[in-house]
Amino acid sequence: MNLSRRRFLWHALWAAPVGVVADAAVVEPHWLNIKTVTLAKGAVRHRFVHLTDIHHKGDEAYLRRVIAEVNRLKPDFACFTGDLVEEAKFVPPALEILREVQVPLYGIPGNHDHWSRANFGPIRDAFAATGGAWLQDRQMLIRDGAINLMALDRLPARLVADPARFNLLLMHYPEWADRLPGLSCDLLLAGHSHGGQVRVPVIGAIFTPSDTGAYDMGLFETPAGPLYVNPGIGTLGYSIRFNCRPELTVFEI
Ligand SMILES: [Fe+2]
Repeated sequence: MNLSRRRFLWHALWAAPVGVVADAAVVEPHWLNIKTVTLAKGAVRHRFVHLTDIHHKGDEAYLRRVIAEVNRLKPDFACFTGDLVEEAKFVPPALEILREVQVPLYGIPGNHDHWSRANFGPIRDAFAATGGAWLQDRQMLIRDGAINLMALDRLPARLVADPARFNLLLMHYPEWADRLPGLSCDLLLAGHSHGGQVRVPVIGAIFTPSDTGAYDMGLFETPAGPLYVNPGIGTLGYSIRFNCRPELTVFEI
């Protein structure tokens, strides 16, 4: 091996891990992925955005960029599946930005919203101001009655599907899809897992929180219907993501 080749390999050896760390800590946490999932068999009747797990900790520029992207996509409505914050003090700045959503925004709380002991009153008002709603164990008809929107906060679920409508269920914990006896949905949306935040190529997530089960990220078939698990907008703990970009999911149904 000549000297220049040896020098190249030496540089590559230390550059690879430095690159991985730089990607995970600097690039990926704010490298928003826009993913489209088309479930409609024929013409698309409704188009909406799913976002989840914002975990706002004060990075207002990033959250403004996310919301601007939601508006740019011009969906019919948007769904949020929990974990707006980890600490109650970040609710007001988060809501100031969420109020800029230009379509009806429907949402449910996540475990961190509950644990933060945040007052849900202002959150309810902010979601209502968009024309949407902050829902806890409630359901409502939207899109001129075409969609039965069900919002699950606590088990056991007291929600009722309607075979004559598109049954869309919002929940925080993916694994709860296995714990909804008798409930048949056209689509369930969840967050919570963050996709693991760090995903080793081929192997996948090296850690997921409890109540994720086998449903760590993406589209799955479950006993309650098709479940989509979004890897989230923010991060839990350290601001690190690897092979697991933050995501806005556009659904066409
Ligand atoms: Fe979360």
